[in-house]
Amino acid sequence: MKYKILELLKASDNFVSGEEIGKIFNISRSAVWKNILKLKELGYDITSVTKKGYFLNGSSNVLNDYEIRTSLTTKIFGKNFLCLKETDSTNEEAKRQAQNNIPDGFLITSENQTKGKGRLGNSWSHSGNSALAFSIVLKPPLIPADITPLTLITGLSVCEAFRKIGIPAYVKWPNDIIINNKKAVGILTEISCEIEKISYVVIGIGVNINQPSFDGELKEKATSLFIETGEIFKRTKILNAILNEFEGNYYKFIRTSDFTEFIEKYESFCLNIGKTVKAVSKVRNISGIAVGISKKGELIVKNEETSSLSFVSGEFSVRLQDGKYI
Ligand code: BTN
Repeated sequence: MKYKILELLKASDNFVSGEEIGKIFNISRSAVWKNILKLKELGYDITSVTKKGYFLNGSSNVLNDYEIRTSLTTKIFGKNFLCLKETDSTNEEAKRQAQNNIPDGFLITSENQTKGKGRLGNSWSHSGNSALAFSIVLKPPLIPADITPLTLITGLSVCEAFRKIGIPAYVKWPNDIIINNKKAVGILTEISCEIEKISYVVIGIGVNINQPSFDGELKEKATSLFIETGEIFKRTKILNAILNEFEGNYYKFIRTSDFTEFIEKYESFCLNIGKTVKAVSKVRNISGIAVGISKKGELIVKNEETSSLSFVSGEFSVRLQDGKYI
């Protein structure tokens, strides 16, 4: 019943009285009130005014089973999902779930992460309902060496999703999503494989959506969709936009496991191309100009003095020569 009332409030631009709701669903006014309380407990922002009734504040940004089920327009990604209030990390939860027989495209979301993880051992802080943290479990018929293109395809898909809703997003190789020189999305890919065969891949995506500002060291580095556009976004809208782009690109990619057809588009979004970069790994550093992306998803770096080419892969962290974030 509560979701029927929710639908009614969603469809109305104005207050709807308890009496009217009661009549429509053939329930008492006190039953209406009890259901309104349940919706409020779920996080929906409903204003109640005596003699006027109930009004659902459009900015309610709830992420729950119902909102996910009714907002996703994908064919496979997210059709099976787990929507949590809190977990250590959605990537860790995804790995636990992957032990069971879950289908390709299984989605895990969480309102809070107590140990959100970033790339290269960093942590990822999460801002409750102004952000989105989710992971997808994939079982691609690929060999472990093909994982870099898959990581790049995730970044490409997020960029495409944002551009379709008018946000000028770029990617910093391999898959940091940058808007106006600051990071708005982080992507963490984790893989479990047997010899030469991938058992499953977990792709974790953290999106800064409606945060009004960032403090401390994030102030200079991080941004949100709200900061960049002045618009409050529904988290389910962003989730749906990303999953739709990613689903299309993922199934296209695994048909051939060939990244070639994605290179041109990826390069056009990639901020590193044509810039001087420094790629740092545990074993070696490479400096030069980033000239392109290889069909394995590596960043191709040309040394200015010797004109030699290097292929920078996943274990490197890439920075501009002056040490700035981007
Ligand atoms: C990075 O840029 O360092 C990657 C950040 C990835 C963060 C996301 S949030 C959802 C998923 N769960 C995690 O613990 N990490 C990823």
